[in-house]
Amino acid sequence: MKASILIFSQTGNTLKAGNSIVKGLVSAGFEVDQLSFLRRSRWKPDKADLIGIGSPVFENRPAEVVTDYLQESGFDFAGKKAFVFITSGGSPAKSLWHLSQAIARTGATVMGGIQLRGASSFPTLFGLFPDRPDEKELEYAEDFGRAVAAGMTAGEQLPEYYRIDPDRGGIFYDKVGPCLNYIKKKTTPLPESDHGKCDLCGNCVYECPTGSITVENSLIKFHGTCIVCYRCWSICPRNAISIKFSPGNGFIERLLYGERMERIFGDIKPGEYVGKNLYKDVLARRIRLKYDRKNPTSVYEYK
Ligand SMILES: Cc1cc2nc3c(=O)[nH]c(=O)nc-3n(C[C@H](O)[C@H](O)[C@H](O)COP(=O)(O)O)c2cc1C
Ligand code: SF4
Ligand code: SF4
Repeated sequence: MKASILIFSQTGNTLKAGNSIVKGLVSAGFEVDQLSFLRRSRWKPDKADLIGIGSPVFENRPAEVVTDYLQESGFDFAGKKAFVFITSGGSPAKSLWHLSQAIARTGATVMGGIQLRGASSFPTLFGLFPDRPDEKELEYAEDFGRAVAAGMTAGEQLPEYYRIDPDRGGIFYDKVGPCLNYIKKKTTPLPESDHGKCDLCGNCVYECPTGSITVENSLIKFHGTCIVCYRCWSICPRNAISIKFSPGNGFIERLLYGERMERIFGDIKPGEYVGKNLYKDVLARRIRLKYDRKNPTSVYEYK
C-alpha cells in the first residue's frame, strides 16, 4: 500500500514526528513518499491509499496555512484513509481535532492521530519544552505508524488512545481563545527589513510559509499575507529583519499558549520538565536559532 505525507515543520519537531511515523509505516511494508509543506506545489497524493498531514500548533490551532491549503486546493480524498499529527510548544488545545476536521473535509476517513511536544521557537514562547519530542515520544510515533499500517491492512480501527478527542481544551479554547487570538494578531508587529544589512541570500524567501516575501528591485519586500510566524526574523543570518515589539507584545501568547494554561487544560505530567521561557534573551538577540536550510532544527545558541 502507498502513503503520502505532507509535513509543515519550521524547526524540525513535526518533521521528527513524521520521520518516526514513516519508519513505522515502512517497517510494516508501506511505500511512503514524504514532502515538506514548503514544496507543496509538488505534492501528488492521488495514487496514495493513505494520506498523512503533520503541522505545528500556531495560536492554539494547526498552522492555518496548512488547513487553508487543504481547503483551497480542492482535493478529493474520498475513499482514502488519513491520519494527522501535531507538535506543540505549549497549549495545543484542540489542534489535533481541527487538523482532523480539515482533512476530513476532503472526503478522507480519518483513522486517528497523535500529538507530541516540540521545543518552542516562537520568540515569546522560546525555551519551553526543550529537546522535545524526545526518544520516548518518537518511539510512540513509530508505534503509531505501525498501528496505522496494521489498521489499513486488516481494515480495523486503531486502538482507543489514537482516537482524536474533540473535547480536549473544553469550552475555553472554543470561545475565549479565538477572541484573544484575534487581539494578538491585530497587535503583533509585522517584520521589517533593514536593506543596508541584507545581502539577498534568499533564506527568508525560501522559508516563508505563506510566500509573503519577495525580492523587488534588489530589495526585500513583505506582503500582507504574512501570518507573523517570525520564521524570517529568526533565520536571517545578517540580522537584517527586525520586529518592533512594544512592552505588551507577548503577553497574550505567554498567557494563552504557554505553560500555565496547559497545566489547567492540558496534560503536563507531574515532574515533566517544561523548560524556561527565554523570550527576553531572544528579543535582545542574545540567543539565536541555529539555521540550516536542509536540516531544520530548534537548537539554539548563545551569542
Ligand atoms: C507562530 C507560532 C505560534 C505558536 N503557537 C503555539 C501555541 O499556540 N500553542 C503551542 O502549544 N505552541 C505554539 N507554538 C510552538 C510550536 O507549535 C512548537 O514549537 C512546534 O513543535 C513547532 O514545530 P516545528 O518545529 O515542526 O515547526 C507556536 C510556534 C510558532 C512559530
Ligand atoms: S534572510 Fe536576511 S539577508 Fe537573507 S535575503 Fe532575507 S533579509 Fe536578506
Ligand atoms: S513572519 Fe516572515 S516568514 Fe512568517 S509569514 Fe511573515 S513574512 Fe513569512
